[in-house]
Amino acid sequence: MPSSRREFLVRTGAAAAALSSWPAELLARTTRPASDERVRLAVVGGGFGASHHWHEHPGCVVTAVTDLEENRRQRLRRQYGCDDVYPSLEVMLEKASDRFDAVAVFTDAPSHVRHAVMCFDAGKHVVSACPAATTLEDAKTLVAAQQRTGLRYMMHESSWYRQECIAARELYRSGGLGRLIYSEFEYYHDGIGTRSDNRQRWGGEKSWRMGFPPMLYPTHSLGFLVGTTGERIVKVSCLGQRIGDDFPFDGENAYDNPFSNEMALGITDQGNICRFGVFWAMAAEGERGQWFGEKQACYMGSSSGQSQMTKPRHGRAAPWEVPRYWEGDRLPEAMRHPSGHGGSSVFLCHDFIEALLNDREPVIDLAESLAMTVPGIVAHQSALQGGKQLEVPRLGEKHG
Ligand SMILES: NC(=O)c1ccc[n+]([C@@H]2O[C@H](COP(=O)([O-])OP(=O)(O)OC[C@H]3O[C@@H](n4cnc5c(N)ncnc54)[C@H](O)[C@@H]3O)[C@@H](O)[C@H]2O)c1
Repeated sequence: MPSSRREFLVRTGAAAAALSSWPAELLARTTRPASDERVRLAVVGGGFGASHHWHEHPGCVVTAVTDLEENRRQRLRRQYGCDDVYPSLEVMLEKASDRFDAVAVFTDAPSHVRHAVMCFDAGKHVVSACPAATTLEDAKTLVAAQQRTGLRYMMHESSWYRQECIAARELYRSGGLGRLIYSEFEYYHDGIGTRSDNRQRWGGEKSWRMGFPPMLYPTHSLGFLVGTTGERIVKVSCLGQRIGDDFPFDGENAYDNPFSNEMALGITDQGNICRFGVFWAMAAEGERGQWFGEKQACYMGSSSGQSQMTKPRHGRAAPWEVPRYWEGDRLPEAMRHPSGHGGSSVFLCHDFIEALLNDREPVIDLAESLAMTVPGIVAHQSALQGGKQLEVPRLGEKHG
C-alpha cells in the first residue's frame, strides 16, 4: 500500500480520542469529498458473515474471503463476487496481508477476540460480529490490542441500526423521549444451542452455541439501550433459569453453564433502570425493546404479536410509525433496500466503511461495543451467585 493510502486508512490513538464522540445521526450521510478511494476488505466466516452488503458500498471492495469449510467458502465467494479464497484466517493473513486494509470477523463468538487481535497485529482494522468478547479477560485483551495498534474497531450489532432503534435514538436526541427512566430489552431465541439444534445444524458435532450462556450474548438487548442514549450499565443483578430437557446444562457444555434463560436488572450511570434478558427456551421470539421516557413511551412491535405503539405522558396511545430509514439519503444508492435484522445490515456496513474512508471512529466504536457486551458477562457471574448485585467495569472508554 502506498504510504499516503496507509496514512489515510491507519491512524493513531490521539486522533481517535479527538474524534470519538458520536457524529451526526449515523453519519450515514457521506461527509467525505468525492473520491475513488476504496477500503479493501477481507471477510472471515461464511455463515452469518456471508449475508452482508460490503460489496454494495461504493467505497469498499471485498478482496479476500475465508472459511474453514469449503461450502462456506463458496457462499462467501458468491455473495461478495470475490475469487481470492483462503482455507483459514491464519493462512489469509500470512499469504495475502498486502491485499486488504480491514477484516470482517464473523467466526464463532468465543474466538472473536483472538481473531480480532490477530488482525490488529497484522495492521488491519476490524469489524467483528457480536459479542465483542465472552470473558472480562478477553475484553481487556481487546482494549490493550486496540490501544497498542491504534487501529479501528467496530462491533457489528444489529439492534443498534434496527429501524425502531434509530427512531428511538432520534426521538431521544431531539428531546422527545426525555430522560429514559426505565427500559426493557429482550432477545428470545427458542431452541438455539440445544442438542437437537446441534444435530440439525452441525451434524451432531458440539458447536460453540451448544449450551452457550445466554448473558454472554447480551448485545441484541443492550444495543437498544446503548444505541439510544449512550448510557452505561454500572451495576447489575441477574437471575438464571433452567428450562427444557433438550438443553445441555452444566458439564454437557463447554462453559459449565447451568442456565438456558437469564434476566438482568441493571442501573445506569444516569440512575435509570434497565431490564435486559436473553432466553434460549421460551414461547416467544425476536429482539425487542420498550423505552419508557419521562415524556413518552415507545413499545416495539414483534413477530410474537405485540403492537408497535407510542404513548405521550399526557396523551393517548397511538401506533408508533417508524420510518424506513434505508429508503432515504442516509445510505449510498445501491444500499437503499431492506436488509437483515430489521434493516440494520446495510447501515452496519456503511458505518464501518465510512469511518475508515473519513479517518474517524465508527459510531459503534470499541467503547460502545464493550458497553453492550461487558454488562452481560458480569450479569452471568451475578446469576451464578444467585442474583448478587455486581459492579460493571467500564472498559475501553474514550476518556479514561
Ligand atoms: N444479528 C446478529 O448480529 C447475528 C446473527 C447471527 C450470528 N451472529 C454472530 O456472527 C458470528 C457468526 O455466526 P454464525 O451463525 O455464522 O456462526 P457459525 O459458527 O455457524 O460460523 C462461524 C464460521 O467461522 C468459521 N471460522 C472459524 N474459525 C475460522 C478461521 N480461523 N478461519 C476461517 N474461518 C473460521 C467457521 O468455519 C464457521 O463457518 C457469531 O459470532 C454470532 O454470534 C450475529
